[in-house]
Amino acid sequence: MAHQSALIAEDIDAYLHQHEHKSLLRFLTCGSVDDGKSTLIGRLLYDSKMIFEDQLAALEADSKKVGTQGGEIDFALLVDGLAAEREQGITIDVAYRFFSTDKRKFIVADTPGHEQYTRNMVTGASTADAAVILIDARKGVLTQTRRHSYLVSLLGIRHVVLAINKMDLVGWSQEVFDQILADYHDFAAQIGIKDFTAIPMSALKGDNITEPSPHAPWYDGPPLMRWLEDAPVEDDLQARPFRMPVQWVNRPNLDFRGFSGLIASGVVKPGDKLKALPSGRESTVERIVTFRGDLSQAVAGQSVTLTLKDEIDVSRGDVLAAAAQPPEVADQFESTVVWFDDEPLLPGRPYLMKLGARTVTAQVAEPKHKINVNTLEKLAATRLELNEIGVCNLSLSAPVAFDPYAENKDLGGFILIDRLSNRTVGAGMLHFALRRSQNIHWQALDVDKAARSAAKGQKARVVWFTGLSGAGKSTIANLVEKRLHAEGRHTYLLDGDNVRHGLNRDLGFTEEDRVENIRRVAEVSKLMVDAGLIVLVSFISPFRAERAMARELMGEREFVEVFVDTPLGEAEKRDVKGLYAKARAGQLKNFTGIDSPYEAPENPEIRIDTTALTPEQAAEQIFAWLEGGGFDPGI
Ligand code: ADX
Repeated sequence: MAHQSALIAEDIDAYLHQHEHKSLLRFLTCGSVDDGKSTLIGRLLYDSKMIFEDQLAALEADSKKVGTQGGEIDFALLVDGLAAEREQGITIDVAYRFFSTDKRKFIVADTPGHEQYTRNMVTGASTADAAVILIDARKGVLTQTRRHSYLVSLLGIRHVVLAINKMDLVGWSQEVFDQILADYHDFAAQIGIKDFTAIPMSALKGDNITEPSPHAPWYDGPPLMRWLEDAPVEDDLQARPFRMPVQWVNRPNLDFRGFSGLIASGVVKPGDKLKALPSGRESTVERIVTFRGDLSQAVAGQSVTLTLKDEIDVSRGDVLAAAAQPPEVADQFESTVVWFDDEPLLPGRPYLMKLGARTVTAQVAEPKHKINVNTLEKLAATRLELNEIGVCNLSLSAPVAFDPYAENKDLGGFILIDRLSNRTVGAGMLHFALRRSQNIHWQALDVDKAARSAAKGQKARVVWFTGLSGAGKSTIANLVEKRLHAEGRHTYLLDGDNVRHGLNRDLGFTEEDRVENIRRVAEVSKLMVDAGLIVLVSFISPFRAERAMARELMGEREFVEVFVDTPLGEAEKRDVKGLYAKARAGQLKNFTGIDSPYEAPENPEIRIDTTALTPEQAAEQIFAWLEGGGFDPGI
């Protein structure tokens, strides 16, 4: 490096020791290229002497060639390669840059400022301790300043710098600075930013970056680098109650059983009483094991393995917590969700939710409202699109231990993952548990599914017919039911058109309504299976995710998926109800196969090719499967 700490040459061990023991500040820069963000980051790297000599030479040459600074070094060139890519939409990742000074190490997340990159900003901000919000002194507080500040506040970043840049272009006017400060002050209070530091600066000229600027004698606060060096890190995480999500149960042999994870908050010592959640079992810490030997105490931010005095049941994803101050356990929450995916968030659809080290299935209810990130207005919404933010209730498949995000980011911040593509589709923050979930308990009943099935002399299950409209689902399901009935089986046929006359009469054919349609009929089928019935379900059920959800609601071997496979052309040719003609004429919107998708099953238990079989033959094939070997052919 060009001029790295002199210690490197003199005493490399001392340098490394010092470097290793420096604290680390993660911060985020918010602003657009126009505000001088790239220049500022370039300047921080340059002034902290973290530029390699060859980079510096290239920078000087490039600055002469293409720079906008008339022969002076154009710092923006250091970081703008990426910005250019972004403008073209090639990559929209967050760039992380590392630098250090004698006092501290830094990771800066450089996130694009435009609204279409909200998700990137959220990603970059999720681990940040501090935020630098850039303002162009000539322009003052803009819509984007409000948006950036709102996101910073939403993500719980408590240390905020308002970098009022380009002060040289307003003649270092104190009035301009004071006016911007006053404008920002009111807004900041509204969105919950209680405290911030405003610094007048010129990133380009290097004023108030590392050294106080002679141009602003009226400013008596710190230059940016000093502020960054002094900002408190990790906000007294150690002072909070102990929490460690268990990432791994370490059991190399029968004599050792340790629980490994990263301590999210607090301090732990041998002898401390811990509670494992969600089970609620308690034990005492025996040892704190690390690669370098046992510790007498460990703190937030350290990865350790704990052994306990008692053999209590703790699995991956559980949380070990201070027994006296445990987190809450719940399965329904109010949360804020930021949507990351091109496909919208559909209320009722099951997503995977990762919270701490735990992964569960989560359904998001219809948003209570979404937020216009520019005006902070609350708007009505039935779904969330890419980059939208909404307040939504969540319902999980199992109870989890959590803290509100405002108290503990690790135990209150989550991501949502699409179950089929495995993409991260959203992120969010838990606010509080819904009381209704705590006040409703599962009532144990003495007569159960097995007893009800046995009384009927049959195995209860769901036979789920899926396929295009007009594929022949209902015709075949009807024949199968007749056949089962003739055999003395106890059955019920839930048909899409019929259920839409009653229970689901409030639903149409948008994606969200179809998701809800299937969610309800899956729940009804589950009740009917519990009643001991053989349930035939005949719904288009066009989405894999919801069919997968229905399958998971049932027990092992209780769900038989029947794909009534009729090609679109064939269904359209038959057009029994005349609906394809209407859809083609534009009189019927969102028609499956025309302007609404159908996702064919990948591994149905039974596939019926209706171009090769009559409905009677198809019904016979299904009947034979159900009454014969079925899941165990040959038995
Ligand atoms: S699903 O997609 O939500 O599973 P469902 O099976 O309940 O659909 O209802 C499908 C039936 O509604 C079709 O058989 C057809 O008769 C009728 N229908 C009316 N409008 C549409 C539409 N836009 N798309 C598909 N089916 C429609």
